[in-house]
Amino acid sequence: MKKELKSITADLAAYVKQLDEDTTSHRSQDTGHRLQDISHMAQETDKKTPAEKIRDAGREARDTVVRPTGDAMAALAKEIRACRKCRLGNSRLNAVVGVGNTSAKVVFVGEGPGFQEDHKGEPFVGRSGQLLDKILDTVLGLKREDVYIANIVKCHPMKDPESPESHGNDRPPDPEEISACRPYLDRQLVLIKPKCIVTLGSVATKVLLGVTQGISLMRGKWHDYPVDLFGPGHPIKVLPTYHPAALLRNSNLKRETWEDMKMLKAFLDE
Ligand code: SF4
Ligand code: URA
Repeated sequence: MKKELKSITADLAAYVKQLDEDTTSHRSQDTGHRLQDISHMAQETDKKTPAEKIRDAGREARDTVVRPTGDAMAALAKEIRACRKCRLGNSRLNAVVGVGNTSAKVVFVGEGPGFQEDHKGEPFVGRSGQLLDKILDTVLGLKREDVYIANIVKCHPMKDPESPESHGNDRPPDPEEISACRPYLDRQLVLIKPKCIVTLGSVATKVLLGVTQGISLMRGKWHDYPVDLFGPGHPIKVLPTYHPAALLRNSNLKRETWEDMKMLKAFLDE
């Protein structure tokens, strides 16, 4: 899994690099609204260049985005709930679209739903979620209704897909599932138009930033989201931090997480 993820993020980094080269050389006609669709990368038969794929994915996303945000998010949620683009669609109990304020300044992004989330259809409602709520409240003075919370994949990745009722059946999403689901998160971001994203844990950080470094090297610093959803020069800022589940396993990580959240607070208060 780690090896595959490393390769997909390396592909993504190469992809973004080519986009940069293309846009700085001759793509001035591009509107600047671009989305990456790494699922297209897997299709060997597709002859488009990566930059053309980004451009087309961006156009597609914008075409499906209808203001006002609430209506468009409801339409997107309906689409996600009916989605079977990867095998997780066959085993989930509920697709977990996201929760919170669709005009939030900050979007928190986790890895994927677990047992509790699959049952409730809401992200971060298990033990990790309770800790996330506590962090939001104590450090930021915010409720989950004030921010937006979503995941890289919208359906529960299970070790045994036949047993959605079993505990201890969670696993991380695989690269195919991530590729299939990824466009939904970008469409959510286009609608919400946040000032920043907080990636929770290694998987969300690697996927969104297209890097291979682990979370301990990435956290505590602001990064630019490598996809220009709102045109060149307006990158969404990304702050990686530890996943709350990691804090439950190792409470030594709390201090650094608190520092990260203070950085977030200062940024939101600017
Ligand atoms: Fe569709 Fe994403 Fe669920 Fe896969 S995980 S079925 S791509 S919504
Ligand atoms: N872990 C995640 O990454 N996401 C959830 O929604 C719950 C737990």
